[in-house]
Amino acid sequence: MSKSITIRSTLRSLSISPQNYVFVTRTLQRAFTSAATTVYNCDDMSVDQTTAKTMWSSKMIAWQAHSYSTIDDLVLTSNARSPVMVRPKEVLVRIKASSVNPLDIMMAEGYGQVLLGTIRQAQQLSLHKPVEFPLTLGRDFCGEIIAKGVKVKNDLNIGDIVMGVVPPFHQGCHAEYVTVPDGLVAKKPAHITNEEAAGLLYTGLTAWAALKVAGGLCVLKAAEKNILVIGGSGGVGNCAIQLLKHWGAKVTTTCHSNAISLVKGLKPDNIVDYTTKDVQKQLEQFGKFDLILDAAGIPYDNISTYTPLLKGWSCSAFITLRSPILQNTDSYGFFGGMFKNAIDLVVPNILSGAVFKGSSFRWGTFIPLESGVKELAKLVVEKKMIIPIEKTYKFMDLKDAYKRVQEGHLRGKIIITFDKPSLDKARLTN
Ligand SMILES: NC(=O)c1ccc[n+]([C@@H]2O[C@H](COP(=O)([O-])OP(=O)(O)OC[C@H]3O[C@@H](n4cnc5c(N)ncnc54)[C@H](OP(=O)(O)O)[C@@H]3O)[C@@H](O)[C@H]2O)c1
Repeated sequence: MSKSITIRSTLRSLSISPQNYVFVTRTLQRAFTSAATTVYNCDDMSVDQTTAKTMWSSKMIAWQAHSYSTIDDLVLTSNARSPVMVRPKEVLVRIKASSVNPLDIMMAEGYGQVLLGTIRQAQQLSLHKPVEFPLTLGRDFCGEIIAKGVKVKNDLNIGDIVMGVVPPFHQGCHAEYVTVPDGLVAKKPAHITNEEAAGLLYTGLTAWAALKVAGGLCVLKAAEKNILVIGGSGGVGNCAIQLLKHWGAKVTTTCHSNAISLVKGLKPDNIVDYTTKDVQKQLEQFGKFDLILDAAGIPYDNISTYTPLLKGWSCSAFITLRSPILQNTDSYGFFGGMFKNAIDLVVPNILSGAVFKGSSFRWGTFIPLESGVKELAKLVVEKKMIIPIEKTYKFMDLKDAYKRVQEGHLRGKIIITFDKPSLDKARLTN
């Protein structure tokens, strides 16, 4: 059997545009040269035999949605199109573990299709609606870098095990491979498992952005702040408590009685069991709050029970992660949705009484920022942040993992591992 591998014809079959063709060729050449164990010389580049066998296949294993439906309709395929690096600051990662977030279930059902589609279209500078199916879900992961673009940061190398996150307008990571900008990955510290690393960045960045961007929390002044985290037992709540304690804030959190031992491990100052009587009175004894972060998805109708706990006339804020932005654009289209969003931001500010006390009601959301990735990764390296895991599922059992997230009442992250038996079995499927 000839050992030469026709790289150029493979790249052509991946439908890479002429301007990107040269870049991708060079990137892969560098990637494979530095990863080489058994090197094949072909034309003007070198290729690692092991990597080439998997990489040069334009197909990969993935769980995909072929229409917006229920999670029962997700399909396992070994025929999904492999991602291709098209930008010089991207890395190509082979996934080892990934987490499931409530967003995955919502996106499978069609949540965010209008706005996310508009962002995809703008990114492609196209006048046409982008093809959204088959859609791969999955936002955060741990995996091995197997190729890197020419402008990727020097501290990221082929073979590095990294933790990363994929923005919702990109194809996700419940698949063998994913490409992401280098700013959205960080090296996995040796002392944590792949599973823990896979569960950090989506909820971590949501908590980070909700507090720092939406909440306007200045870390230098955090020690003067009294903050309530509603729902300390979930993924976002876990991260919010640990970030706030690291920044020096005084943190009170609420959770179910059966989550108290988990939440205690995150070292908040006070824990209130929300299933007990007079929760509001119990919270009042800890003083008025500068910020309240709702990481439990409290319905809008109930927000006014919490707003009296905010400090008056001090720019205090109630931050919800249940922003209606995507839902409104789904229901009313892009422009109608944006108009409705404006109304939905003003009305709760008035009805909850927040504006009449110099407070505000704000929306927090996941924001894929490199500075957030760096800060979260540093905290994990310094052993100042842990990632509680409720359960790990095998890749073949992904639907069970989704169902567990759908049931709610989570006590830590739900993780999927890309174990070899599952992948071997999946290769036998279509
Ligand atoms: N906008 C965004 O970009 C964004 C990003 C990430 C997440 N989110 C949203 O943020 C919320 C949290 O996400 P997550 O990933 O952390 O979800 P999660 O892991 O399911 O956590 C939610 C936690 O809240 C607890 N909880 C429920 N009702 C509560 C209440 N009344 N008081 C206190 N705790 C309560 C739940 O446990 P029990 O029910 O057993 O108490 C669960 O542990 C979800 O609504 C999610 O959709 C939004």
